[in-house]
Amino acid sequence: MSPSPRPMTVPRFTAMKAAGQKITMVTAYDYTMAALIDSVGIEGILVGDTLAMVVQGHRNTLPVSVDQMIYHAEMVGRAVEHALVVVDMPFLSYHTGRYKAIENAGRILKETRCQAVKLEQGPGQVEITAALVAAGIPVMAHFGLRPQSIHQMGGYAIQRDREQLFNDAKAAEEAGAFSILLECIPGDIATEVTASVKIPTIGIGAGAGCDGQVLVMHDLLGLGMGRVPRHAKQYADLGGATIEAVARYRDEVRAGTFPGPEQTFQ
Ligand code: KIV
Repeated sequence: MSPSPRPMTVPRFTAMKAAGQKITMVTAYDYTMAALIDSVGIEGILVGDTLAMVVQGHRNTLPVSVDQMIYHAEMVGRAVEHALVVVDMPFLSYHTGRYKAIENAGRILKETRCQAVKLEQGPGQVEITAALVAAGIPVMAHFGLRPQSIHQMGGYAIQRDREQLFNDAKAAEEAGAFSILLECIPGDIATEVTASVKIPTIGIGAGAGCDGQVLVMHDLLGLGMGRVPRHAKQYADLGGATIEAVARYRDEVRAGTFPGPEQTFQ
């Protein structure tokens, strides 16, 4: 699909499921990457709290703050003309009660050009999803593996509790979420969960039976410094290209061949 002439909206995003159209999302954290990604004509861009790891260098997603999410979402929001931009609510920005959650999610929508929030919805957060939706804030509910609960879950393991996943999906739909992100669950369960709800499911490590897919940009582009997770696919080696380009620049400066006559003013 070439770039959409119309900006994506929450209702159009949700309606893609009934139309049988696959949804593509990728994460972005800054202006330049968001503009490049948006130029492709992708349906959704997620300002994910993975920025704590891939941008800030933390070991998990817990440390990132609301202010930092807003800082990055502002950059992405300035770049994007077509995609729906969804922003992660970081750890503890929605757990302490519905008013705090509305205040934080409201800030995200008011201070950036982004249109929706995503939150990791454990059974205790369904009321929060409903409260945000009642306040006019579109919510993508994220469950399966919930990285903000890494310590409680004891690691980044595949989530196989079929009944819990069905209950989470039903609860998210009833609470008014416009879509669901399913992370690291077996493909057959994801397919059945997808069939059980009217709102679209976006999978990461959840197989091809979801209504759409999301990838972390650093995995897709080969920008990670470590291994690519099994569920991800690397489509380019920008990490390798960066190292090679900077090494060539260094060598040319050392050899006195950069700058050359073309780069020198007379
Ligand atoms: O923060 C993030 O990047 C995510 C991924 C699971 C897509 O939520």
